[in-house]
Amino acid sequence: MIQPGMESVPSDEEALIERLVTQNLKLLDESTRPIMRGQHPKHHGCVRAEFVVEDGLDGQLRHGLFAEPATFPALIRFSNGASMDDRKGDAHGMAIKLFDVPGDKLLAQGNTHDFVLIDHPVFFARDAAGYVELFDALLKAKQSVLPKLAFFLPRFIAEMGHVYLTHLHNHPDELAIMRAMISKHPDSPLASRYWSTTPYRLGPHAVKWCAQPHAAPAPSPSDSADKLRIALANHLATSEASFDFMVQLQTEPESMPIEDPRREWDAQRSPWRKVATLKLPVQKPDTPELMTFCEHLAFNPWRCLPEHRPLGGVNRARKAIYDALSRRRHELNGVAQAEPDLSEFQQLWAS
Ligand code: HEM
Repeated sequence: MIQPGMESVPSDEEALIERLVTQNLKLLDESTRPIMRGQHPKHHGCVRAEFVVEDGLDGQLRHGLFAEPATFPALIRFSNGASMDDRKGDAHGMAIKLFDVPGDKLLAQGNTHDFVLIDHPVFFARDAAGYVELFDALLKAKQSVLPKLAFFLPRFIAEMGHVYLTHLHNHPDELAIMRAMISKHPDSPLASRYWSTTPYRLGPHAVKWCAQPHAAPAPSPSDSADKLRIALANHLATSEASFDFMVQLQTEPESMPIEDPRREWDAQRSPWRKVATLKLPVQKPDTPELMTFCEHLAFNPWRCLPEHRPLGGVNRARKAIYDALSRRRHELNGVAQAEPDLSEFQQLWAS
């Protein structure tokens, strides 16, 4: 019988993760300088926020960050999954860094705590093996004759065409998720809901995270390739924004698997429950200094309290990958990789 939060680690997982690290590093090394993130390269702002843990939470939810009512200073990096043009369909990221969080973290660096979310409830790969297969198809596409079609087609489309022919058409579930994931056209980063897709511990429980916007901001009429940055900056120039930060408990291990983030957990069976509010005050989140500051940050779902340990194969793979990739990105750009100091961020925000 499957126990709540129970992981099951395939015997070949370590080797697959090593392969993923090598493949991802190779792609990064071959990129043009300065090196941007291999995934989620473009951001729309470096946003100041507060993460306010609810008072009077049910005892079941009071673990780790949520044990006591508290307010943590926070920073949010909103990003595109792949595209540099905001008018194109894409997945979008919301990476949150909390400051002044006491206690040892699973990545032992500083007092910061990260959450990494996207604007889709599920992820297209089941585990490290699923991701490796897809990545292999992508690498082959990069070397194959098809990219030569880039004379006629954008390179990305030619490569994805090859990935479709060699891999995705045999994996209709992954294809459907990927299509839905990369076809979002939000009016503003403040208008979307974001999910962890993968599970995490909440003390003895397993949960998924999500951030739900309170109210949709007025659309910002812009046809610019940077329309998401413009919409974010326009809204925050005059108005606050906020998100409810919520958890969904794994109540039925069979239908709410730990090892398959392609499966959405049914909110009818286990409703989302609010544990905190993210408050974004009026500010200017896109000064050149702030944009550079966020460029040099690194987020990692493993930078967290042990009470919120990431669970499942995709998360286990991300531990080594995010660490290796962000280190190499910083090295190649000649920038020191260190967790940011809150006062440094506050100075940039105040200036
Ligand atoms: C095995 C699966 C995955 C791989 C190999 C992978 C790979 C990566 C890499 C290499 C980066 C850039 C790291 C850096 O240079 O700092 C990244 C960033 C990111 N990933 Fe993943 N990822 C995976 C799964 C996921 C999942 C399940 C989510 C869903 C929430 C996700 C959301 C993001 C976001 C939002 C960022 C941007 C973080 C930032 O703002 O710095 N990834 N990913």
